[in-house]
Amino acid sequence: MKHIAVMGSGNGSNFEAIVKWFQDKSVEITCLSDVEDAFILKRAQNLRINHQFLPFEQNFEYFSKNEFDLVVLAGYMKIIPENVLKAMGKVINIHPSLLPAFKGKDAVKKAFLAGVKVSGVTVHYVDCNIDTGKIIAQYPVFIDNSMHFDEFEAEIHEIEHRLYPIVIEKVLEDKIFDFHDLMKSGCSKNKEGGGCDRCGQH
Ligand code: GRF
Repeated sequence: MKHIAVMGSGNGSNFEAIVKWFQDKSVEITCLSDVEDAFILKRAQNLRINHQFLPFEQNFEYFSKNEFDLVVLAGYMKIIPENVLKAMGKVINIHPSLLPAFKGKDAVKKAFLAGVKVSGVTVHYVDCNIDTGKIIAQYPVFIDNSMHFDEFEAEIHEIEHRLYPIVIEKVLEDKIFDFHDLMKSGCSKNKEGGGCDRCGQH
């Protein structure tokens, strides 16, 4: 049985996607939030997942006492210092752009306003700078001229919810995978008889 911690400061939609993906698998999940009334903690309560409010200043002490196979940041809004990161072990994060473009806050809006034609989602290891750690996986979202911001944002979040659980599973298995494996395993939308509506291949 593997044990992961998912840390978030807000909504927790990625957390919920992760819980659903692992519900029949032998992975135990603990939800941690640095914001006492964050919706992610309410989701954890409703989903009957272990959860706790963990003030930022208590991270070092907590992770010195509690060991996880993987710590997953999902909308965690603080920068974690090096000594705390060391105590946490392996830490990954999801970011709503194709890094290294559009690091930091409001990445979805920044990419859209810049007029990029391809953006997407990145999962990366966490170091003590903002969104600079080694990239593990990326998935594109194409923006055509008729696309509205709301549609773009919704598609980014949909991709996040499909991508993150798969990548977490692979990282836990210590498996290296390439982009095509990722597309296949992430394909939950099959066009009738026409294959995946993203890559058209399976
Ligand atoms: C996501 O867009 C993620 O990429 C970014 O923060 C947002 C968290 O959303 N790091 P949620 O709390 O999982 O709904």
